[in-house]
Amino acid sequence: MFALNLRGYAISPTFNRTFIRTMASARRSAYETIPSSPIRVMRTVEAVRRWRKPQYLDHRIVGLVPTMGALHEGHLSLIRAAARETHHVVVSIYVNPAQFGIKEDLASYPVTWDEDCKVLANLDRELADDGGNLGRISAVFAPTTSEMYPSGFPGQEVDSKGSFVVMTPISELLEGGTRPTFFRGVATVCLKLFNIVQPEKVYFGQKDVQQSVIIRKLVRDFTLPIDVVIGSTVRDSDGLALSSRNVYLGERRRKVATTLYHALKAAESQYLKGALDRESILKAAKTVTTDVLNQQLSLAPEERVRYEVDYISLADPLSMEEMSVVDPKQGGVLSGAIKMLPVESAQPGEDLGSNDGPAVRLIDNIILKPSSGI
Ligand code: PAJ
Repeated sequence: MFALNLRGYAISPTFNRTFIRTMASARRSAYETIPSSPIRVMRTVEAVRRWRKPQYLDHRIVGLVPTMGALHEGHLSLIRAAARETHHVVVSIYVNPAQFGIKEDLASYPVTWDEDCKVLANLDRELADDGGNLGRISAVFAPTTSEMYPSGFPGQEVDSKGSFVVMTPISELLEGGTRPTFFRGVATVCLKLFNIVQPEKVYFGQKDVQQSVIIRKLVRDFTLPIDVVIGSTVRDSDGLALSSRNVYLGERRRKVATTLYHALKAAESQYLKGALDRESILKAAKTVTTDVLNQQLSLAPEERVRYEVDYISLADPLSMEEMSVVDPKQGGVLSGAIKMLPVESAQPGEDLGSNDGPAVRLIDNIILKPSSGI
């Protein structure tokens, strides 16, 4: 059968098929996608706004999972949670320079875009096959720094001038003590991401417990119409919390990297046995970090691992202020940070980790749950 074109001329079926295919592919390529997947890649605020508006008009719930890429199972668990509860999951991938101090690892932070795309495409197929999900990964937002900071990037210095979200005193405590610009950078970029994507729900990991408390506070203090969901920490089988920075550890330090987790577990077990005072709870953790370090220092330099404990804290779950006694009705947050120093006397062929194994700061935490029956 011959169709007529707009001017009434007959067009052949072959032409018609080719025309339809060309139009369909033009429609498909109207936006960038992750290879072998329907996941859109959006690089500008305008692209996100264009995509977001119809979802709003259709009453579709959007969930945002902010990340800095180098995706691992910890990130994926948040995306899975978002897909169960929202129609459209947006994953942001942006290494935000504002949250790195001038002497920190911004330049060497792992950037694994191609690998991240594969991981997301596979996860999206898995989500599509699982009937229990409301949505899938609809888009990745991967902006440039000039897109995120339209007035120009303010810089990484403590006294940089610019438009920031500053939340005191919580941003000065714990992680903020060692990294004075960190939470200013996190709160600022997250508020921007929330304004750009306008999600109904956002997903953060308990792994970064102070960050999760700050995000809840950001939403409450700035009256944002957003639900904050916190996903539990995903760990390797030996207990080490997954982190994009674990790639820097190498084999020797990886074996000792569980010390912080063991220390926090020892403190938790004091609480579970009924201790409520700071001293008894934290003493158990400090015994572990000191004993393991002494044992390591007794080894030869080519075998041992050295670390410095930055802090081990017992804090109020809402303010992150240190507590002298745990109120069992409220519980508390045990958290810590240790700096794994570069290995000494590296052996020929030794796996030192990415970038020749620089110092790696590890953080972890355990929530002391309120006791039941009180
Ligand atoms: P990033 O370190 O990439 O982490 C993204 C999210 O994954 C955070 O909410 C973090 O808490 C969570 N996450 C990381 N490791 C996890 C684990 N082992 N188990 C569960 N969740 C885990 O955190 C950031 O990026 C940035 O600060 C960001 C919020 C994106 C702002 O730039």
